[in-house]
Amino acid sequence: MVEKIEYKSPNKKVEGQKKYLIQSFGCQMNERDAESLSGILEDLGYIPTDAQEEADIIILNTCCVRETAESKVYGLLGRLRKLKVAKPDLILGVCGCMPQQEDVAKKIRHNFPFVDLIFGTHNVHELPRMIHQVQENHEAVLEVWATEKGIVENVPVRRKDKLKAWVTIMYGCNNFCTYCIVPYVRGRERSRKPEDIIKEIQDLVQEGYKEVTLLGQNVNSYGKDMDVNYRFADLLLDLDKIEGLERIRFMTSHPRDFDQRLIDVIASAKKVCEHFHLPAQAGSNRILKLMNRGYTREQYLDLIQRIKSAVPNASITADLMVGFPGETEEDFADTLDLVKRVRYDSAFTFVYNIRTGTPAAKMEQVAEEVKSERIQRLIELQNKISCENNRQEEGKVFEVLVEGETQNNPDLLAGRTRTNKLVVFQGPIELTGKLVQVKITKGRLNLLEGELVLNGTND
Ligand code: SAM
Ligand code: SF4
Ligand code: F3S
Repeated sequence: MVEKIEYKSPNKKVEGQKKYLIQSFGCQMNERDAESLSGILEDLGYIPTDAQEEADIIILNTCCVRETAESKVYGLLGRLRKLKVAKPDLILGVCGCMPQQEDVAKKIRHNFPFVDLIFGTHNVHELPRMIHQVQENHEAVLEVWATEKGIVENVPVRRKDKLKAWVTIMYGCNNFCTYCIVPYVRGRERSRKPEDIIKEIQDLVQEGYKEVTLLGQNVNSYGKDMDVNYRFADLLLDLDKIEGLERIRFMTSHPRDFDQRLIDVIASAKKVCEHFHLPAQAGSNRILKLMNRGYTREQYLDLIQRIKSAVPNASITADLMVGFPGETEEDFADTLDLVKRVRYDSAFTFVYNIRTGTPAAKMEQVAEEVKSERIQRLIELQNKISCENNRQEEGKVFEVLVEGETQNNPDLLAGRTRTNKLVVFQGPIELTGKLVQVKITKGRLNLLEGELVLNGTND
């Protein structure tokens, strides 16, 4: 069982109207961390701004899962140099997954010496002390804890949304998929105590939140590191009892740890939404083995079958990767075949990208042009299936949680079905935050168009 550390709000706050800006990259867990960074800064007395020129502190919360994510940060740092020259008191920070790799932290230090603050994923709660140190000593602070020291609770949080909240239920990953950097930068799996999660969600409901998404790199191994027999299914059952909470989502699930009890609990729990994000990564057993995913395509397809029979209206989405080292045309054909069999509602598709320090980096690589050609074919197939699946929703009525006006057209409202499909329809803005019934009139690639069913009933 990991140690629990209580966050202590510092007595000393910043003077004057100091402003902060956080730019976050990467997954939802990083977005959630950014909400903690904002919370800590606001607790210190900073106020938010969207304008770089106005900010007194700018923090880049970074991701290193693929090279493109890292390049964006280097590009941004290059551009921020000018701002720092013009405003020497500006505090510039880089945190998150990138500096958690030793060579990257050194590279940032060397190539961007004007960065004041470099810290990792394990010491976010130390931010007030580190800022103080920068201000007092007028020198850069580099503090990256190599390993996790516990779970910090009661960190202040400034959430981006007022309706839907992300709740991290566990940190880290033990899976060591051979292509992935995450276990190296996020540490081992640590589950938060059920009572802390339940309390956080009860408080959210009190504040008016309707939906929570439980976050972890592998949520269904929740509890395995605890000394009590309490697992992800137990947590779902307890959360399902919270009055006022409408929807429970979770991500990401690892297909290896998805047992029958969990399927049955999801099928029976009223608030747990019928959406399963189950990254397959590949459809070839040979590649799955090389990836260290811990399941075969047959086991994966069996899992999908069991989900579909327990939750007939479930939507299924995935992460898929092409060009893993050694992937042959035949292996790739297995991925396409898997996609045709499962018929995902949508999928995040990735081109394999070397991550230094991971086992796959040393394997024989697939040529870039082969990877580009395969990703195009995969996207084409998945788009066709997504369109067909969405067209099949035409005429059906769905419960939609209204999130507000659409970005491009203020006359239209947008919301999501329990199956996590985006729906746009006409209706009064006052419906924001409400659950309404919408009849689907048109299924498109990435969204459903619909019309409000009057009186909020299905008939
Ligand atoms: N924990 C989740 C799981 O196992 O499904 C995924 C988390 S990872 C941040 C999100 C996705 O990034 C993975 O599912 C994988 O498809 C992709 N990914 C990870 N490492 C990658 C790499 N080296 N190159 C390309 N895509 C990668
Ligand atoms: Fe990466 Fe695999 Fe862990 Fe997901 S389960 S974070 S892909 S190592
Ligand atoms: Fe990226 Fe770190 Fe998430 S590497 S995907 S931000 S865990």
